[in-house]
Amino acid sequence: MYQLTINSLTQEQFLAEYWQKKPLLIKQGFKDFADPIEPEELAGLAMEESIESRIVTNHSDDWQAYHGPFEDFSLLTEKHSTLLVQAVDHWHSDAAQLLEPFRFIPNWRIDDLMISYSTPGGGVGPHLDQYDVFIIQGEGKRHWRVGLPDANLKQFAQNKSLLQVEQFPAVIDCVLEPGDILYIPPGCPHEGYAVENALNYSVGFRAPNQRDLLSQFADHLIDTELGNQRYGDAELKLRSSKGELNQTEAEKVKQLMIAAINDDAVFKTWLGNSMSQPKHDMDLAPLEEPYTLDDVNDLLNDEDVVFERLGGTRAIYQVIDDKILLSINGVNYMHDLTDLELITKLTDQTWVTAADINSSKNNHIFLKTFTTLLNEGIWFC
Ligand code: SIN
Ligand code: CO
Repeated sequence: MYQLTINSLTQEQFLAEYWQKKPLLIKQGFKDFADPIEPEELAGLAMEESIESRIVTNHSDDWQAYHGPFEDFSLLTEKHSTLLVQAVDHWHSDAAQLLEPFRFIPNWRIDDLMISYSTPGGGVGPHLDQYDVFIIQGEGKRHWRVGLPDANLKQFAQNKSLLQVEQFPAVIDCVLEPGDILYIPPGCPHEGYAVENALNYSVGFRAPNQRDLLSQFADHLIDTELGNQRYGDAELKLRSSKGELNQTEAEKVKQLMIAAINDDAVFKTWLGNSMSQPKHDMDLAPLEEPYTLDDVNDLLNDEDVVFERLGGTRAIYQVIDDKILLSINGVNYMHDLTDLELITKLTDQTWVTAADINSSKNNHIFLKTFTTLLNEGIWFC
């Protein structure tokens, strides 16, 4: 278990003073930091077809980016090279543990754990990210500079898959050592170059934009055949110009569209479904001999049983009147509000003991959901 200390700040103070506001150097955020993964294992992941990886090199200031999967690592030279692997929390349960200390930020905002391995001088160059990120230093050292958002900073493509930003003044300029952490809000330019072979872990967040939200909501209406209400104008009066679509009509069209979003049940069903979609296809191993509800009841009686949640699982809930809409990996489950304590165990924790949830023994609806999750391999013991 990793224990996070944010300098002398409480989590509330960090959120109030820094989150989405300004960058922060957290010295020894993790004391006695032990890397959860070896560089060789990271390289192994980068050989897999289904895992997103890149190698970036910057020999003599010539920036090149290569996309995985990789058959060998000749591009990862002794100097000026970086291997980056996305969403490692899906594939490596020990590395996934690094997300846990950051779950004081609502889980649906967490995107993934990206891990990089850089050789001296290696990095991805000066750039901006659209999202908040905590960069944790593992083995080795890396020299980081972080600036403040500046709308005048010009972005340019070093090559077709490497967007960089021009040089910027730094407000943080430091060499990170194992266990140090940088918090970087969206839009803050930053660059980091390895001083010695270095592992870095980026806990990345996500913030959907209007375009993606609206297009996903529209897809949901299409899939569920909802949103059928049509424009109507029974009050129409004769007008001098027939060419104009007037302000009242424009407003009525807008209200018609907003009415679709304002249907709370439709909206939250979509939101749960959409926000709990995993980043990648899950690496699921469904049970060959599925449990019955009685089997799960028996498991809950066994105090030695510990249930674990599969890495990469997205689990959130929303309260809708006296119901709870639980959403796990894109599937919704409706529960009574009285199940709130049990539901939060499945959304706020990545493991539970049988004792934690054995109050559900006679709760048919909860048991049904939990049995489904066990049978699909989303939770396992
Ligand atoms: C890296 O680890 O090289 C990149 C992390 C980042 O700048 O977001
Ligand atoms: Co970055």
